Amino acid sequence: MAGVPTQFGIVEIAIPHAIALAKSLPNVRLLGFHFHAISNNCDSKTDADFMDHCFETSKRWGAEWNIDISYLNVGGGIGINYLFNWGDFTNRLEKTLEKHRDCSWKLLFECGRYITSSCGYYAAEVLDIKQNHGKYFCVVRGGIHHLRLPAAWKQSHPFTIVPIESVIPL
Ligand SMILES: Cc1ncc(COP(=O)(O)O)c(C=O)c1O
Repeated sequence: MAGVPTQFGIVEIAIPHAIALAKSLPNVRLLGFHFHAISNNCDSKTDADFMDHCFETSKRWGAEWNIDISYLNVGGGIGINYLFNWGDFTNRLEKTLEKHRDCSWKLLFECGRYITSSCGYYAAEVLDIKQNHGKYFCVVRGGIHHLRLPAAWKQSHPFTIVPIESVIPL
């Protein structure tokens, strides 16, 4: 993640030190850079701009530090719209790739949500319904530690109620 305090990654100001350290270690080979700065981004222009930024920054660091780059990892972050359809990122990404055709680097993505979001369901039994300031809340046999991100980040996360006749005791 970038631009905010976070426990992840290396802050940009510390990159020169990290590169110098990596280059000084006999058993480490610096092969490229790994970025991951956005999540559930549903705007394809932002994603293409971010990928362009990863290319430009890696080219600059590669030139400044004389690194023979083999890999660029642009992380994940491609979002989806659960209510309508899958985001179409391919056109813009293709344009960005075309712009950086000169690079022979292997380009890596590590998409999480984009690949897996249609692959399953989170199901939890509703134990109780309570009202608070005019809104209704379900108390579920689940936990904030099961699927926290969508609610914590206020992301779109539709749900379906599945009526059941009886509960099978665990
Ligand atoms: C380093 C890194 N790469 C990729 C991902 C996947 O992100 P997303 O599901 O937004 O594609 C994460 C998620 O936390 C991550 O921390």
